[in-house]
Amino acid sequence: MSNYHIKNLQEYFHLYYKSVRNPELFWEEIAEENFVWRKRWDNVLSWDFTKPEIKWFEGAQLNITENCIDRHLHTRGDKTAIIFEPNNPNDPAEHITYKQLHERVCKFANVLKDKGVQKGDRICIYLPMIPELAVAVLACARIGAIHSVVFAGFSATALATRINDCDAKIVLTSDGSYRGAKTIDLKGIVDEALQDCPGVTKVLVAKRIQSDIHMEAGRDEWLQPLLDSAASNCEVEIMEAEDPLFILYTSGSTGKPKGMLHTTGGYMVYTAYTFKNVFQYRENDVYWCTADIGWITGHSYIVYGPLANGATTLMFEGVPSYPDFGRFWEVVQKHKVNQFYTAPTAIRALAKEGTEHLEKHDLSSLKVLGTVGEPINEEAWHWYNNNVGNSNCPIVDTWWQTETGGILISPIPFSTPTKPTYATLPMLGVQPALMDENGNEIKSNQVEGRLCIKFPWPSVARTIWGNHQRYKDTYFSAFENMYFTGDGALRDEVGYYRITGRVDDVIIVSGHNLGTAPIEDAINEHPAVAESAIVGFPHDVKGNALYGYVILKETGESRDRDNLRKEINQQITDKIGPIAKLDKIQFTVGLPKTRSGKIMRRILRKIASKDTSNLGDTSTLLNPEVVQKIMDDAF
Ligand code: WT7
Repeated sequence: MSNYHIKNLQEYFHLYYKSVRNPELFWEEIAEENFVWRKRWDNVLSWDFTKPEIKWFEGAQLNITENCIDRHLHTRGDKTAIIFEPNNPNDPAEHITYKQLHERVCKFANVLKDKGVQKGDRICIYLPMIPELAVAVLACARIGAIHSVVFAGFSATALATRINDCDAKIVLTSDGSYRGAKTIDLKGIVDEALQDCPGVTKVLVAKRIQSDIHMEAGRDEWLQPLLDSAASNCEVEIMEAEDPLFILYTSGSTGKPKGMLHTTGGYMVYTAYTFKNVFQYRENDVYWCTADIGWITGHSYIVYGPLANGATTLMFEGVPSYPDFGRFWEVVQKHKVNQFYTAPTAIRALAKEGTEHLEKHDLSSLKVLGTVGEPINEEAWHWYNNNVGNSNCPIVDTWWQTETGGILISPIPFSTPTKPTYATLPMLGVQPALMDENGNEIKSNQVEGRLCIKFPWPSVARTIWGNHQRYKDTYFSAFENMYFTGDGALRDEVGYYRITGRVDDVIIVSGHNLGTAPIEDAINEHPAVAESAIVGFPHDVKGNALYGYVILKETGESRDRDNLRKEINQQITDKIGPIAKLDKIQFTVGLPKTRSGKIMRRILRKIASKDTSNLGDTSTLLNPEVVQKIMDDAF
């Protein structure tokens, strides 16, 4: 276990240099000493970023659920694997032991098998944050089915696109979900989506809100009776290390969502290793990540990483504001949470409420605080540090992406001195590079550039489902022999990294990754709209909010503007989901364009941010006169 647990900065540097000098040897030792393999690998790593093709632990065989569940049964059978904290604080929490998790996963896996699911089949999971979601994910992995979890806040259209893209035949969902004081008709959304998904033959429905829903004869079945009668043991499917584990969709700057494909062996090793070190998890700790399993954060750091370490991981069904803004702290106190991992947008929303809620709760169990999803601003960092951590808990600002599978840049608590707004140093084996506009690597410190990674790490996504060319174009073509992240970053005088934000047309709103193109497409489908352009502008809680510039067709000119604004946002809600709604909509007669017809978003961003003192060179525009017009209308 020597390499597995980093305890001080000296050890970090020692291991980091080892991991860079000989990555194969480094990861081989970690893999060998800390996991259960049915067959050893023939080759630790083969890679070629020009194809691109990356393979870790080729020839090895394993099942990730054997590593996340079965191997703990002797030593941790009665230990709580998952704490489920329901939406309603008056409902009891559920403690699921490793033994119980084993049985539930086996039963679920047997139900899937009984429905004809085989290794390699894609299963779409559209469930709220209830135990069935984690169990369903693990059940798929146990039998080698590829899960594709779709966040249960996405609309019917977004769900249908994702089901069809990976050709899923089975959908796992629930009657509905709770969200604070509201309920959401999930099954109704699924029914609507499935009108456009002829390939789906089976829908299994968990009961959560006891609502009266439509059950399509021959297609829909209640899950619970099937689980009740299923056998409680299910042998694991033996998987190759490079067999697919899951697909998870993420927005791109253009076109339809990208189904990032993650494989089994490397993903397991990397998420387990980073979980242990980034959160400094100790045997009896209670760890809580507030993300939804519908995002990569939940896959890697609610389910797989923690369970591979035999940890106790908390799943929270609710929202930070229900029944009031003290809910997070109530849950921390109630379950004596030791590691708490959330998003800057949540921190900013809570900070707005002052410290009154914090003072009512005992947070002394906390040891490590984490953040993820977007850059954390200095003010939010200090509020988190001073008030939640009592200046006593290191903050791990973890930078990573759906595509990276696991955390790539983060402090190691109690080892790496933290610095507000800095994600600090690369994880073991991770080799970042900053690139200039001409494609050259900037080697010095105190510089800013485009963030790339020079060498493969075990959990990098292997392809985009059904579109390897897009995978190559998006990540491996901007810079030669490098993985391009799409982010800008700054490196300070000691080599610490600070992520400055996206350098492409992706906007991060409340930690959600949104591409401008799909939103514009949704708006343009409105019959009164001729064209639109979306940009981000700073927002004190969401980090960024969306600003839409909309050109109306002649037929739309006479319409009431406020009604149109409502309809446009409804259109976005229907096509994508409420997370993509616009905060501001400005109707305009034109958009600044280059001579090649590209919208100059740089200018639109500045106007949206009320930062028009220096608009840069507008002389190359096709229609420079439109800029003044937009500014006049904006203010
Ligand atoms: C993008 C990836 C990784 C799980 C959640 C988001 C931004 C992520 C940080 C951070 C600054 C961050 C980046 C990245 N991002 N973490 N600690 N500091 N920015 O996953 O939806 O794939 O989004 O989120 O811009 O590229 P995702």
